[in-house]
Amino acid sequence: MDPTAKLSIDDQTYELPLLTGTEGTRAIDIGKLQRTTGCITLDEGYPNTGSTKSAITFLDGEKGILRYRGYPVEVIAERCDFTETAYLLIFGDLPTAEQLEEFRTSIRVHTLLHEGMKRIFAGFPPDAQPMAILSSVVSALAIYCKDSLDSRSEEMRELSMYRMLAKMPTIAAFGYKQSIGQPFIYPENHLTYCQNFLHMMFAVPSERYQMDPDFVDALNLLLILQADHSQNCSTSAVRMVGSSNVNLFSAIASGICALWGEWHGGANEACINMLEMIQADGRNLKKYVDLAKDKTKEFRLMGFGHRVYKNYDPRATIIKKFAHKLLKKHGQRDPLFDLAQELEEVALTDPYFIERKLYPNVDFYSGIIYRLMNIPKNMFTVLFALGRLPGWIAHWREMHQSPTKAIHRPMDLYVGHTLREFVPLIERTAKG
Ligand code: SDX
Repeated sequence: MDPTAKLSIDDQTYELPLLTGTEGTRAIDIGKLQRTTGCITLDEGYPNTGSTKSAITFLDGEKGILRYRGYPVEVIAERCDFTETAYLLIFGDLPTAEQLEEFRTSIRVHTLLHEGMKRIFAGFPPDAQPMAILSSVVSALAIYCKDSLDSRSEEMRELSMYRMLAKMPTIAAFGYKQSIGQPFIYPENHLTYCQNFLHMMFAVPSERYQMDPDFVDALNLLLILQADHSQNCSTSAVRMVGSSNVNLFSAIASGICALWGEWHGGANEACINMLEMIQADGRNLKKYVDLAKDKTKEFRLMGFGHRVYKNYDPRATIIKKFAHKLLKKHGQRDPLFDLAQELEEVALTDPYFIERKLYPNVDFYSGIIYRLMNIPKNMFTVLFALGRLPGWIAHWREMHQSPTKAIHRPMDLYVGHTLREFVPLIERTAKG
């Protein structure tokens, strides 16, 4: 007999299936709840709600565990590069050498944009926000890649996936070049995925570009650590939008928009802005920690706290360690890194943060590494999007392959007016 959860409503008791995931997470299946009880559930922000079954990424928030397809993120970060990680997330297993080479080739043959797309960049003002550029031009891929829009076709899903993986770095780099008035640098397919992006970002036609291998390693690491994180806000957006059977490019554009928010991927840029503000204000840490605790104020410590992690974010641990190593190797100090560590120390000994289990998350230290790599601050979240792209694609693909695939259409608990008589305009008075 399968286990069940018992639910009593009025004088009736209902039995709901009690499911257990492969890591022991238990879920009450409410798939038939409304039909059998007439009730819906309410869970604003979904902290208690599983939107789907998934085999891609496992998080244990209490223990600070993150695994991609069963492999600890620490091991993947140590042993793989970003394209190998993308393959694992999308196809479910680590690739053989042949599979990886074929995957990389399938990507590199699509790195160019249609030449007509360059006119889109020309229409943006120099101060256009890079995440707005990215979501706009990714959306435009649905115009220029019209032969791969039908998401019901496995062949078109595959083609749009390779085009998306290949063109996102080109779009990101072209957007940056446009904003600084420099000529676009075309992708060079003999380079690796991360080398190609850095080359398109920082090379100029008149000089030989000296690629710093440390920065290639740093980019690989940051993209791997940001590659997937189960049903976060932007991945849920990609699944929600993709569930209408729209093409991949449009679903990814919605994920980019969701990631932009400062409570999500935009926190990496917002965290550096916060540290610069504290630095400029005499490094008065107590003032800002107190401000973050003051409920009458909007201010929060950016890069701190997490819906799932009630422990140190394992990605933040790796990023912090790597930042130390990279700064030391380059003989540099970053006052904002010192400040961030002091802020972490103050916050983690404060009862407010301890009671609420608020720790540094993936966005708290990533900006320190981006600064050393001369990535402009307004491009930090674009790089988060580059990292998250294989995760978005993996979830979109998993949704389309699911035998229980359905359009995402949640209910709401209606609390508005009950039926009322219409009042003609002529009779309406201010009192309503
Ligand atoms: C990412 O979901 C993912 O997996 C996301 C992500 C991914 O890889 O996809 O990990 C990437 O988005 C990381 C998070 C980046 N965002 C930030 O760093 C922005 C600052 N953090 C917060 O706004 C907040 O912590 C969230 C949005 C991340 C999580 O918010 P929750 O889960 O809705 O928690 P909450 O707002 O209910 O907070 C619980 C309590 C509240 O206080 P009380 O009402 O209980 O008194 O903690 C407080 C909050 O006010 N709180 C903070 C805080 N974060 C939460 N107080 C001060 N500073 C903070 N940063």
